[in-house]
Amino acid sequence: MRKKIVAGNWKMNLDYAEGISLFSEIVNMVRDEKKGDQIAIICAPYLHLNSLTKLGGNVVSIGAQNCHQKESGAFTGEISAKMIKSVGCEYVIVGHSERREYFAESDELLAQKTIIALQNGLTPIFCIGETLDERNNGSYFEVLKSQLLNGVFGLSAEDFSKIVIAYEPVWAIGTGLTASSEQAQEVHAFIRKEIAAQYNDETAENTSILYGGSCNPKNAAELFAQKDIDGGLIGGASLKSRDFADIVKTFN
Ligand code: G3P
Repeated sequence: MRKKIVAGNWKMNLDYAEGISLFSEIVNMVRDEKKGDQIAIICAPYLHLNSLTKLGGNVVSIGAQNCHQKESGAFTGEISAKMIKSVGCEYVIVGHSERREYFAESDELLAQKTIIALQNGLTPIFCIGETLDERNNGSYFEVLKSQLLNGVFGLSAEDFSKIVIAYEPVWAIGTGLTASSEQAQEVHAFIRKEIAAQYNDETAENTSILYGGSCNPKNAAELFAQKDIDGGLIGGASLKSRDFADIVKTFN
């Protein structure tokens, strides 16, 4: 079933005490704002996962920002999907553009990460998005289709129905240059059409497709009012409890 989701991505921010403090504020504010079956998530650095899953209750769920593609082994510094699940996480971001860029994560590697996340009972939030050059030269649909095809379209319809897609135009991330609601809706409709073509209309209709890229309390309402936008993946604004809660409130 298509869910309305607001997920925060804290990225590499907040020490232990800061994380606990901010998350406690977020839970208290979101408790008052979240309505119906809407979902609120915070995807935090590994440091925070075990403590936050004990604090979120049924108000805010917890996700990781990445996981390794193997079950276990000699991968110094890495963390497995099984470990993430073992502390109570429900979600994991896969393929964020910063990991694609800074850690050279290919679509093929991300396909493996998606599979092992599903195998360990996590819901992958699979990120796709074009660069400014790809937007300006008009190749963005081709790029997005390739990321879907090589990243998640190898999944069965049953497994695909368990994932969330996040469209994050790279040129809008952290820049304050948000995609217009028309630009975002155009891409979200394209993504849903591609899902229908790959699988079927029901799977496409039931897939939550989030927008990410300078989403904030001022622009969230117009973005989330779009037919094919089912919520947001929020960076900077998720580090401010009131802003994050106001974005959640947008769905009311
Ligand atoms: O994963 C969400 C993030 O990439 C968006 O960042 O700061 O533009 O909301 P921001």
